Amino acid sequence: MAPIRLPSPIEDLSSVRSAEKLDSNKGDVVHKQKFDIKESELHAAKKSRNVNFEAFYGIEPTRIDRRFDVTLSDHSYLPKIENPRADWVVTAATNAFRAFQNGELGQVKRFATIGTGSGTDVIAALDIFPAIEAVAMTDLHDSVVAAAKANVLAATEKADDEIRAVAASAIARAGDVLVPLKGQEPFDLIYENLPNIPLPDTADLGNGQASSTYVGDRSQDKIPPFASTALLDLHYVALWQAKTFGLLSPTGAVLSSMGGRVATDAMLKLADAAGFVGRVISLSWKEQSEPENVIGGYAEFEKQGLGPFYFYPTAALEKVFAAYKPASAALCAQQIDIKLSRHRLDATTALQRYRQGEKIGHTVVVMASVLKTGQD
Ligand SMILES: C[S@@+](CC[C@H](N)C(=O)[O-])C[C@H]1O[C@@H](n2cnc3c(N)ncnc32)[C@H](O)[C@@H]1O
Repeated sequence: MAPIRLPSPIEDLSSVRSAEKLDSNKGDVVHKQKFDIKESELHAAKKSRNVNFEAFYGIEPTRIDRRFDVTLSDHSYLPKIENPRADWVVTAATNAFRAFQNGELGQVKRFATIGTGSGTDVIAALDIFPAIEAVAMTDLHDSVVAAAKANVLAATEKADDEIRAVAASAIARAGDVLVPLKGQEPFDLIYENLPNIPLPDTADLGNGQASSTYVGDRSQDKIPPFASTALLDLHYVALWQAKTFGLLSPTGAVLSSMGGRVATDAMLKLADAAGFVGRVISLSWKEQSEPENVIGGYAEFEKQGLGPFYFYPTAALEKVFAAYKPASAALCAQQIDIKLSRHRLDATTALQRYRQGEKIGHTVVVMASVLKTGQD
């Protein structure tokens, strides 16, 4: 199958770039050599699975059906139904949405998610935000967003009329980052959970779940070198597009969900560079999913001088985080950092330890960013 072509970078400032990046520290060009992907880790053998809302999300449903089926396309990112501790929606999205709602950080009527995968993030948002009126979801493949919308409908079959109407009118569009939402009314909350690791330029995005580890050619996106060195390119692009496409309501926020494999300072600096003020609202941890690809990818980039990238044994993460809820952990991020520091592994060591049978994880940071005052 031929590789998928993304929208023109010239028109949208959005598309993706070559592997050459300036490293501000060295004033030099860093060539990000790409690495080989292990397809076997990315494919979902089972295309349909039944979800028990409470067992998966870890909270009682208030509006969503207690049980529903999730069906995946060949390209859908696999939700970790059998191991919620390795799932992004459970460890990042659900915690961050609850922190946003319980912290009264803004009323969420219009919600969008970028890189939705199976749509389980939209399902969490429908349950957690009581004022929700409209939802939109994007991903790279038509088949993925079609399956995600079908899953949202399946999860709300027995829900009240109001929530079923929101599900029925959900926008589901394929395309790069926020490009498919251009021209939409602004959103109160935009959640993104985009990948960090660049696939080889030659990789075929039409192949299985390759898009879950994809960054692409971002040469038109003027990504600050520090962000690129930390492999946070797509998180920068999402913030930049939210601002320049006018997709945020005046009090709206972008939630950037990032594996805390880099220092939090780099994430906050990312928001600043894109014209936002960022703040961590949820800090949790997650078992590394697709460990060969992801830890292996970070190890490759570490060898090329990028990073440093941080991983931990899951036993240490479990112990340190036991005393905190995700919102209180965000408040106590510095304490947690100190407690975790003696367990920290670089990517190369983490990969070795994983191959020796140890469970490896990383922290999960969700940053809420609002536009700087005076910007439109
Ligand atoms: C880490 S997965 C997360 C999926 C889902 N949010 C979840 O937590 O289960 C990243 C998702 O982003 C999608 N993606 C990758 N590059 C993208 C891009 N440039 N624009 C939109 N979505 C993208 C992938 O296809 C994948 O579904």
